[in-house]
Order: sequence, then structure tokens, then C-alpha cells
Amino acid sequence: MSLRIGIIGCGAIGQDHARRLHFKLSGASVVALNDINLEATQAFSLASGINAKVYANYEDLIQAPDVDALLVASWGDAHEEQVLACINAGKPVFCEKPLATSAAGGLRIVEAEVKHGKNLVQVGFMRRYDAGYRALKKTIDAGAIGDVLMAHCAHRNPSVPENYVGDMGITDTHVHELDVLRWLLNDDYVTAQVVQGRKSRNSNGNLHDPMMVLLETTQGIRIDTEIFVTCRFGYDIQCHVVGETGVASLPEPASVALRSGGRQSTEILMDWKQRFIDSYDVELQEWLEDIKVGLVNGPTAWDGYFASATAEACVEARHSKQIVPIRIANRPAFYDRG
Ligand SMILES: NC(=O)c1ccc[n+]([C@@H]2O[C@H](COP(=O)([O-])OP(=O)(O)OC[C@H]3O[C@@H](n4cnc5c(N)ncnc54)[C@H](O)[C@@H]3O)[C@@H](O)[C@H]2O)c1
Repeated sequence: MSLRIGIIGCGAIGQDHARRLHFKLSGASVVALNDINLEATQAFSLASGINAKVYANYEDLIQAPDVDALLVASWGDAHEEQVLACINAGKPVFCEKPLATSAAGGLRIVEAEVKHGKNLVQVGFMRRYDAGYRALKKTIDAGAIGDVLMAHCAHRNPSVPENYVGDMGITDTHVHELDVLRWLLNDDYVTAQVVQGRKSRNSNGNLHDPMMVLLETTQGIRIDTEIFVTCRFGYDIQCHVVGETGVASLPEPASVALRSGGRQSTEILMDWKQRFIDSYDVELQEWLEDIKVGLVNGPTAWDGYFASATAEACVEARHSKQIVPIRIANRPAFYDRG
């Protein structure tokens, strides 16, 4: 059975996902597209060879009887209303991060899904599908380092565009660590603190780069993450988990070890897309298999809400320079994994 997919938001990642679903993965075809930029979307539909019907209105696309499932890749502030419309229509929806731009918005989605009574929402936190993170989780879950005590992480980008400002280091960048570390450590966060020291001269405008986010979990695990988005030297994701009897580290991406000219070197990637390209394929292929049998096994609406609520606390911590408690609603039993 081939699932007929409708995509809302056909910019950079929406187009990537459209091509991936239509041409690369098995069991799906993209039949409908929507974007506020209608002309560009019509051009994309033809030029890509997908030739899907282009809708001027996302609600009509969601309601279309020949659309089985939705993928939302519009700007973050549109996600909440579009995901709620998918839930109201009773159709599975894959929503790119963030699920919502506020904790309250994420919770409204959680409440709507619980009221609907069936899991429909998956959030695009693709790191859970990265082979390196999966291997690291397997190692930790097998008890190879004993109980986890601490984690040291880094999220480094060579540069960011001029419109990357203010709190985006948390809401756009750190949000990936916020999700993957909860999953990796099987734990939830209770407090957040943000420390900003010397500002790099490569920070643009009102961006203060780098910063350090400190999280504490319910079990007392301490996590520090360096967010450094103008580091110039590469796209570099680090995660070192310290346990009672050892340290487990995220594998580096495969790269040739070169001995030449009196030097020993390995390449560092420059582009986040190269780093996680395979995980997008795995993420969407597993999503297709799951929704065919009525399941959501990936990051749920609850995970999306949790990430938004934690990001909100981190933003507050950045501005107040205080340790901020992370207040989370009671988790509905609906989200218990069988
Ligand atoms: N998981 C990841 O690694 C990852 C990577 C990139 C982007 N994203 C997320 O995906 C989303 C899109 O990012 P992007 O880089 O493709 O941005 P983009 O600006 O390239 O594309 C967004 C598209 O959405 C359209 N759009 C905006 N509001 C809309 C609305 N209300 N209805 C319909 N279309 C609308 C815009 O016209 C644009 O074409 C963002 O939420 C971003 O955070 C996730």
C-alpha cells in the first residue's frame, strides 16, 4: 500500500522531504503541496517531476480525500494551527521541529491529540535516527558505563545567517540536544541555567555567541552543552556521557585518516545536512511504516511539548541569569509506551 502524502510548507526542508518521500523512500507518493508562496511551489512541483496538486489553502489540502497523511515544514509559528487542523481531520502528521513555538502551544496539541484518542503526531527530531546516537544509546542502555552521572555536549556551526539572532541558539539550535538527550538518558529535565561568557567577534548583530546551557535531570544527571554557532571551523556535534565506570562518546562521522605532508588529519564536516542526511531517510521511512499500522514510534507530541517547554525555560534562564525550574504539565497516560 502506498501512502498519499500532502506537504505544507515547501521551502528548503519541505522540498527535501518531498523528493525523499516521492523518489527515494518506499511506500509513499507526494500528491499535494501547499505554501504561502504559491508560484514557487507550482514551479517546484513541475521542476522536481513530482507533479502534485498545489493547494492555495492548507485546510483544503488536509481535508482532501486523496491525502492520507501530512508533513508540516512551514515556519515554526504556523506549526500549531496546522498540526491542530490535521488532528481535527484525524490524519497522521509529521511536523518538523518545533512542534510549537511556546510551551502553551505544545500543550494545546497534546490535549487535542489526547481528546482525539489516537496517536497522530510525530515531531521531526531526526537525531534519534542517527546511527551514531543509536549506537551510543545502545551502549548506555546495556550498562557499559554504569549509571550515568554527567554529559558534556557541543553544538557547533561554522556560521549562521544575519537573521539568526537573540534566542535562536536555544530555540533553533539547542532544541535538538533538548530532545535527543532526554531520549538518550531516559530522563527528564528539572532545571536550566544559561551561562554566557566572552562574546566571539564573529557574533553578528545582537547575537551573543557562544553560550553554555546547563541542565539538571530528575535523577540529578548534570548536562552541559556548548552552543557555538560562529565557530568557523566546521559543523561539529559532540556528546560525551560520563558514567560510574566509563565514558561513552558519540562516534565521529566516518572520515579518511590522512597522513600527508608531515601531518595526520581527518576532515570535519561543514554542513549540518551532510551530518544528518542519512537520519532523515531513516526517520521518514520508519514514520511511513508506523503510520501504515496506526502507530507513532518516533518523537511524540508529548516530546515536542517537552522540548518547547524546556526551550522556554532556557530562554528565561538566559535573560534572568538564574537557575530556572522547568515546569511540565502532568504527562497523560496516553503517552506511556507499551
Ligand atoms: N529537523 C531539522 O533538522 C530541520 C532542518 C531544517 C529546518 N527544520 C525546520 O523546518 C521548518 C522549515 O524550515 P526551512 O529551513 O525549510 O525554512 P524555509 O524558510 O526554507 O521554508 C519554509 C517554507 O514554509 C512556507 N510557509 C511559511 N508559513 C507558511 C504557512 N503558514 N503555510 C504554508 N506555508 C508556509 C514559506 O513560504 C517557506 O517556503 C522550520 O520549522 C525549521 O525549524 C528542521
